[in-house]
Amino acid sequence: MPKKTTQQSDNQKIKRVKVSRHKRKIRSIGVLTSGGDAPGMNAAIRAVVRTGIYLGVDVYGVEKGYTGLLESRFLRFELGSVANIIQRGGTVLKSDRCKQFHQKKYRQQAVTNLKKAGIDALVCIGGDGTLTGAHLLWKEFGLPVVGVPGTIDNDLFGSDITIGFDTAINTGLHAIDQIRDTASSHDRLFIIEVMGRNSGYIAVDVGIGGGADAIVSPETPLTATQVYKQISRGMNRGKKSSIIVVAEGKKEGSSMKLAEQLKAKYGLDPRVCILGHVQRGGAPSARDRKVASVFGAMAVRELLNGYSDFMTGAEGWQPQIVGLKEAVSRKKEMHTDLLMLAEILAT
Ligand code: F6P
Repeated sequence: MPKKTTQQSDNQKIKRVKVSRHKRKIRSIGVLTSGGDAPGMNAAIRAVVRTGIYLGVDVYGVEKGYTGLLESRFLRFELGSVANIIQRGGTVLKSDRCKQFHQKKYRQQAVTNLKKAGIDALVCIGGDGTLTGAHLLWKEFGLPVVGVPGTIDNDLFGSDITIGFDTAINTGLHAIDQIRDTASSHDRLFIIEVMGRNSGYIAVDVGIGGGADAIVSPETPLTATQVYKQISRGMNRGKKSSIIVVAEGKKEGSSMKLAEQLKAKYGLDPRVCILGHVQRGGAPSARDRKVASVFGAMAVRELLNGYSDFMTGAEGWQPQIVGLKEAVSRKKEMHTDLLMLAEILAT
């Protein structure tokens, strides 16, 4: 067993950006998953539980995200409680989108329930909504909190990668490869809609990896005419089948509108395939398991080092923690050069 320390090894010095400090003596930690589930959340839970117990604190699983805080659904975890979950998709703690948590009186109730249960700090695994909730618990009540970025959307500022993204893009790619077979057999145009509420990270990676002829994302919305222009370059050189990848944006099914417009304006007959929640499931990839394990352990270490109100992340290979307010309020930059690359490669 390595020496017990909350410090990272020397070659893993953590960069800390706009992080707060707490003064609490932490004897027990709660861990929850909230918002849309993401493959790798279980690996993160496992890392939080095992690192916490290794460093001498009690760890409680909170069932069903923030709803579980309101209903005091706390489970005392042992090392064995998280055995055999690293390879499983979804979240063994279950998840929820808790509307009540938007109101301060319920957040107050959550803090009271945690206090009654003797839980001193919270690790919240999820996307922007989850991290916003965590930030408010710190800001309003001084509860030491950490956010671990768990979302297939990869849209959080402060980390190049979020847990679940890698698995989701591989699921999307697998689907595109399958669709290519039928697209080329029938000389058809396919529109494939991928997830991504406010961001096109999934669309861009899936589009590039899948050799899409056009990629439409919230950051780079294209009109039907622009899409037509892009796919016609291939068609002009005799290409018979094309793939367009579209990020769903605010509402699932938005790609149907594009299909109708391409039909009405240009007489095309596209088929639409909405991948939807398929992308949220499945066994996490090796990369997601590793990222989740590293982030989960980092969350507990930094909490015990006296930091609070931060999200774990990485910039390239550099581990870092970033203030939760930054993480949820700043927009992660989309590399539009990747879209240009996709366009060049599709011609
Ligand atoms: O936040 C992750 C995500 O999967 C988004 O990509 C998608 O827009 C949204 O969740 C769907 O949410 P729900 O499962 O609540 O319909």
